[in-house]
Amino acid sequence: MRVLVAGGAGYIGSHTVVKLIEAGHDVVIADDFSNSKPAVRERLETITGRKITMHAVDLCDRDATDHLFTDEKIDAVIHFAGFKAVGESVAKPIDYYENNLGTMFSLLRAMERHGVNIIVFSSSATVYGDAGTSVMHEELATTAVNPYGWTKVMGEQILRDVANARPQMRVALLRYFNPVGAHPSGLIGEDPSDVPNNLMPFIAQVAIGRREKLNIFGGDYDTKDGTGVRDFIHVEDLATGHVAALEALGRADEPVKTWNLGTGNGVSVLELLHAFERAADKKLPYEIVARRPGDLAAYWADPSLANEELRWHATKTVDDMCVDTWRWQKNNPDGYPD
Ligand code: WQD
Repeated sequence: MRVLVAGGAGYIGSHTVVKLIEAGHDVVIADDFSNSKPAVRERLETITGRKITMHAVDLCDRDATDHLFTDEKIDAVIHFAGFKAVGESVAKPIDYYENNLGTMFSLLRAMERHGVNIIVFSSSATVYGDAGTSVMHEELATTAVNPYGWTKVMGEQILRDVANARPQMRVALLRYFNPVGAHPSGLIGEDPSDVPNNLMPFIAQVAIGRREKLNIFGGDYDTKDGTGVRDFIHVEDLATGHVAALEALGRADEPVKTWNLGTGNGVSVLELLHAFERAADKKLPYEIVARRPGDLAAYWADPSLANEELRWHATKTVDDMCVDTWRWQKNNPDGYPD
């Protein structure tokens, strides 16, 4: 299929582009580079050996998005194009609703006009909120505790309602747990534009010497070692999950499918830190500080639905995640060039 990867210059989008091409699909990247760099294109061309079509587009601009569909014959969309920093969403809610819902509306309008019926949506485990359980499965109710999370809950609902109105639509809602890692080439990886909010990129920047120490938010949770527990999933596994979901939609008879993309394993903050120390072969300084407001103690995926229906499994270990992240960070201490 010829796939429009909206937000395809970003962390998860770029890794998904590689797997799409390796699976024989054609790819068109559209990105506004608000949280990514155009330099990723030549990295992708080096990895895949293929010319990569990439357009600088504000996907909130309905006319520009429609022209993209006119210019490029699109068979399916994978929608990554959204802001994703939880804390920033609390400070700038209008930016988050305007952008994350605006891109959704533009893409859906253009899809309708151009008869494109397949969309894979980048959702998040954050839609489970505090479900009163550590093991998250797709039947749980969705809610949110911050504007970023609400844009994911609303994005899922918009897609369910559109599919209800247009039964020819085929929609995959993919709920990611904690994406980490990098392509084994070390050419592409996570490149936060500011101080990293997330654990793995922060650890990597401590290891490379850009940050003094890791602050561990809370050491008194009711978990194996008192620190938070999460389902870290290698971005390579996440990317193959997107290809599996896209191809499943091509033969699906149900309009909307929801799948968790996770390993099903809970790993603690301290366990991840020590795995990274093994990968970087150095001790990393840290201090246990106060809990971060809004954090849950422990949760991970029940991935059995994706395992069975997509015949997809996460295969990479925590050590793989750290080794691949460290290679990317060492090779690119300041991320992608401007
Ligand atoms: C993981 C653990 C922190 C940083 C968020 C979003 C979620 C998704 C993934 C987009 C927690 C601890 C972290 C640090 C720390 N994003 N931590 N020191 O909060 O599980 O999920 O990112 O879809 O929507 O909510 O990820 O990496 O921020 O935190 O101790 O400097 O690491 O307390 O226990 P989180 P995270």
